[in-house]
Amino acid sequence: MLGKARRPRGAAPLNCGEPEPVTDKRIVLIIGGGIAAYKCLDLIRRLKERRVRVRAVLTRAGEQFVTPLSVGALTNEPVFTNLFDLDAEREIGHIRLSREADLIVVAPATADLIAKMAGGHADDLASTVLMATDKPVLVAPAMNPRMWLHPATQRNVAQLRADGIRVLEPAVGEMAERGEAGAGRLPEVPELLAAIESMLAAAGASVATTPAGHSARPLAGLHVLITSGPTHEPIDPVRYIANRSSGKQGHAVAAAAVKAGARVTLVSGPVALPDPAGVDVMHVETAAEMLDAVREALPADIGIFAAAVADWRVANAEGEKIKKTASARTPTLSLVENPDILKTIATPKAGRPRLVIGFAAETENVTEYAKKKLKSKGADWIVANDVSPETGVMGGDRNAIHIVSAEGVESWPDMSKTEVAERLVARIAAHVANRRPEAAQ
Ligand SMILES: Cc1cc2nc3c(=O)[nH]c(=O)nc-3n(C[C@H](O)[C@H](O)[C@H](O)COP(=O)(O)O)c2cc1C
Repeated sequence: MLGKARRPRGAAPLNCGEPEPVTDKRIVLIIGGGIAAYKCLDLIRRLKERRVRVRAVLTRAGEQFVTPLSVGALTNEPVFTNLFDLDAEREIGHIRLSREADLIVVAPATADLIAKMAGGHADDLASTVLMATDKPVLVAPAMNPRMWLHPATQRNVAQLRADGIRVLEPAVGEMAERGEAGAGRLPEVPELLAAIESMLAAAGASVATTPAGHSARPLAGLHVLITSGPTHEPIDPVRYIANRSSGKQGHAVAAAAVKAGARVTLVSGPVALPDPAGVDVMHVETAAEMLDAVREALPADIGIFAAAVADWRVANAEGEKIKKTASARTPTLSLVENPDILKTIATPKAGRPRLVIGFAAETENVTEYAKKKLKSKGADWIVANDVSPETGVMGGDRNAIHIVSAEGVESWPDMSKTEVAERLVARIAAHVANRRPEAAQ
């Protein structure tokens, strides 16, 4: 059983000027039959910039959406389409194809391909490669929201995850079909790149920098300042007022920003988490200390204020432990407002980070409050999440966020805090890239 390899005529001229890969990172990209297949052409270009070698497999339906000629011209490799092709045997069989890669990426993954993978089918080249591989697999679904939410698709996705396959959450938004919106869009290319890079890194195959100096680490050269965790406001030397923030989301953002090449300063309130590797961490307790540390860490290109800073502190905090005695009256705590760190830093002035992102934890009217917060604080984006006890977000490992900006509200489905962090950093990188002069291509 073989993969039919088509080397498109004209591939070399179309590709002229592209550097040949000089690293040994290899991806097999399986392109399924969905509208979003066109995004793969840009994905291939970006991977090639990062000197990742891409071998593409097109399903029969995939060929209806992008041609082997375009794909081959961009990969500068044969394009594989047919399981039964004797000529291709001499080039590369499906077993070699599935093993000679660091990662297999399925994008767009159709409902059909996901079902085949979950069921263990192997009736065409794509599904056979997926069955034959011993390499990590990344699946980026793209389909109509009803197809995505169909119990069969959800069951199949759960099966793939249980089988150790990483399935990205599709993005939320308008569909190609008029009047259709919801979860089902292929994640944008920067998000796909972030997921690919993190999986290659996990497989011990980090992505290289191109000779042209394009960094595979899109935040290289930038200083990202992040706050995380709760603050503790003392009542006396042994007691304090706190909140339930664990710091998991802010710390995950710090780790993702380091991976994206940024210099990261993390100002952390008291948390039970290890310091993320490669991050400069400043440990603080109170809101006032957090503001001092943030000021000390400036200037920064990007400020991400994920900490759950206490709004109030105790005005009359005691220097000695308050004693409970039979004669003493129950103490009364009087509260004063803490400094507003987000507003202080977001206020337009020289040295303001060029992108200021605040977090909003709400238990009701989440996006409405976030829109108000965006204006009142002067932030560029607010990342809002519902922290009602039933969501399990505070202290938990998952999150469902809304990004509120001047452009509107973008709602992401529930996913792990690590995935939220990686996608948020990819989105920041895309935003920064769009504002860099060389972004015109
Ligand atoms: C215009 C058009 C667009 C389609 N878009 C999608 C899509 O985005 N996602 C999907 O799962 N299926 C989509 N389909 C259906 C798939 O193409 C179909 O299920 C096909 O059998 C998938 O084959 P494959 O999984 O081998 O690529 C679309 C079909 C048509 C005609």
